Amino acid sequence: MQDPLDDGGPVTDNIAAGPPASPTPSPADGYLGDPAVRAEWDNRYADRHQLWSGRPNGALVAEVAGLAPGRVLDVGCGEGADAVWLARGGWDVTALEVSGVALERAAGHARDAGLAIHWVHAALTEAALPPVSFDLVSAQYPALLRTPDAAAERALLAAVAPGGVLLVVHHAGMDIQQVHDGGFDPADYVWPSMIADLLDDDWEVEVDEQRPRVAPDGGAGAHHTDDLVLRVRRLR
Ligand SMILES: C[S@@+](CC[C@H](N)C(=O)[O-])C[C@H]1O[C@@H](n2cnc3c(N)ncnc32)[C@H](O)[C@@H]1O
Repeated sequence: MQDPLDDGGPVTDNIAAGPPASPTPSPADGYLGDPAVRAEWDNRYADRHQLWSGRPNGALVAEVAGLAPGRVLDVGCGEGADAVWLARGGWDVTALEVSGVALERAAGHARDAGLAIHWVHAALTEAALPPVSFDLVSAQYPALLRTPDAAAERALLAAVAPGGVLLVVHHAGMDIQQVHDGGFDPADYVWPSMIADLLDDDWEVEVDEQRPRVAPDGGAGAHHTDDLVLRVRRLR
């Protein structure tokens, strides 16, 4: 298995996933995952020149403050503001995303900043990530689809190294929204509580709370006022 972290130098433009586990690869560009999910997000990003604020998420900035830089996995990195901020702070960043449109933008920001980031164009559950390898796994407002086997929740937990931290941040209230006309059904998605439900004695909960969001100035999600923050540490 190729280690997606073994990048052999600056890999700012390395927008490809590792070899498949049991995925649906797209031979054209190496994307691993459901093409419909990629298409949905590509369309969303392509609609706008810039979808998000371009600044790192406030909860990430707050929670990372006390951590020593190491290997970090940014799950659903979008246009790369968190990944670039982490790399600037000395983290060895792997950033994973289904949207090639978003990844191209993210890679451009890293290139402009002269930062090397390992980009993985894949869905979380298809990416063949090295297990128990990351000192920090960050999932900021991830739009991970829920499955009966809790594959996405388990993939997040499986990526964390012993002693490492999983940080999942979501918009408070979305998990209990009514199904609405746009087709959004909270039951389709993974929420922090579902990850907390899977924790055993190998994990310690450091933060599990709802709190006011350090809201970005602009971007599509700026209207959300509160965060759900789950921060858990793998003890062994
Ligand atoms: C709400 S956006 C958040 C983006 C970024 N984390 C931020 O805070 O700006 C959710 C992101 O997750 C990506 N995504 C959706 N399903 C995914 C999956 N299965 N694996 C990885 N990324 C996924 C989407 O393409 C999108 O960029």
